[in-house]
Order: sequence, then structure tokens, then C-alpha cells
Amino acid sequence: MVEAADHGLLESFCGVGNPFSLFPIQPGSAILDIGCGGGFDLYIASRKTGPTGSVVGADLTEAMVVRARENLSRAGVTNARVQKVESEFLPFANEQFDAVISNGVINLSPAKNILFAEIFRVLKPGGRFGFADIVLEKDLPPDMAASADAWAQ
Ligand SMILES: C[S@@+](CC[C@H](N)C(=O)[O-])C[C@H]1O[C@@H](n2cnc3c(N)ncnc32)[C@H](O)[C@@H]1O
Repeated sequence: MVEAADHGLLESFCGVGNPFSLFPIQPGSAILDIGCGGGFDLYIASRKTGPTGSVVGADLTEAMVVRARENLSRAGVTNARVQKVESEFLPFANEQFDAVISNGVINLSPAKNILFAEIFRVLKPGGRFGFADIVLEKDLPPDMAASADAWAQ
């Protein structure tokens, strides 16, 4: 599946793991990707859920939304759409998705409790949430924690 992905999808990928290793995506399921970036995981999700399923990508920045739409269009994906969304305020109905995935995004949220509450709100009962991310094992030195440059690296 990865081998078949368009060059633009691969080049845009900046995830930190493989959320699809955590549970199987059932054909026909509705999937939400939080912080979809350039759309690589959307492409994988679209292939796994198939033509009877649907995939929604949510990203904070217009630039990534545009890039994901271009990449998916070039890859011939027809069961995925991308929206500009601040993930702490998901514009989706309660219990809309069978699975929510995210890759390298939760660590960037300044309001993780709200983000997790929103994710569980939009999941169907028994739905699955799988994410890959980075964690700190100890506190950052104060000068690094206060540095905008360090946060952006
Ligand atoms: C490290 S990139 C990961 C992109 C993608 N998941 C991947 O695996 O390639 C982080 C992405 O999260 C988006 N992002 C950061 N904070 C966000 C938020 N609060 N809501 C939605 N998207 C967010 C950024 O715009 C960026 O596209």
C-alpha cells in the first residue's frame, strides 16, 4: 500500500509512527484523521476502508489542507475530504466516526484534555482511537521550554 502512494504524499509525510498498527480498519468504516498534514495517512485509511467507507482529514493550517487535497486528488482518492479545523473544536456530530487516528499532532495541542474530550465525543460507541506521538520523559530545561525556536524545531 505504501509503495503505491503518490510521491507527493510520501514527501509530505511528517508523522512519527504507524497508527494503523494499533487496530484494523474495517471496510466501510468512517474515519477521522486529526492533523492530517499532507494526507499520507488519509490515503492509507481511504484504501483500507474502501469505496463504501469515508475518510475526513482535519488540519489547522490552510497550507496543509490545500496540499492534502492536491495529493489525494493526484492519487485518485475519491472517498476522502479535507477540512480546515482546529481539533479542539471539532465541527462534527456526536458519534459520527468508527475510528479516529492521529500521527504526530497531539503533542502540539495546548489543550489536550479538550482535544481528547472532542475525540471521544465524535467516536461511535465502541469506536477506536489510535495515535502515534512523541512524549517527554522529563521536564524541559526552563530556557528551552520558554524558547519559541525550540518549540518549532
Ligand atoms: C507533525 S505534522 C503531522 C502531519 C500528519 N499527521 C503526518 O503524519 O504527516 C502536524 C500537523 O498537525 C497540524 N496541527 C497542529 N495543531 C493542530 C490542531 N490543534 N488542530 C488540527 N491540526 C493541527 C499541523 O498543521 C500539521 O499539519
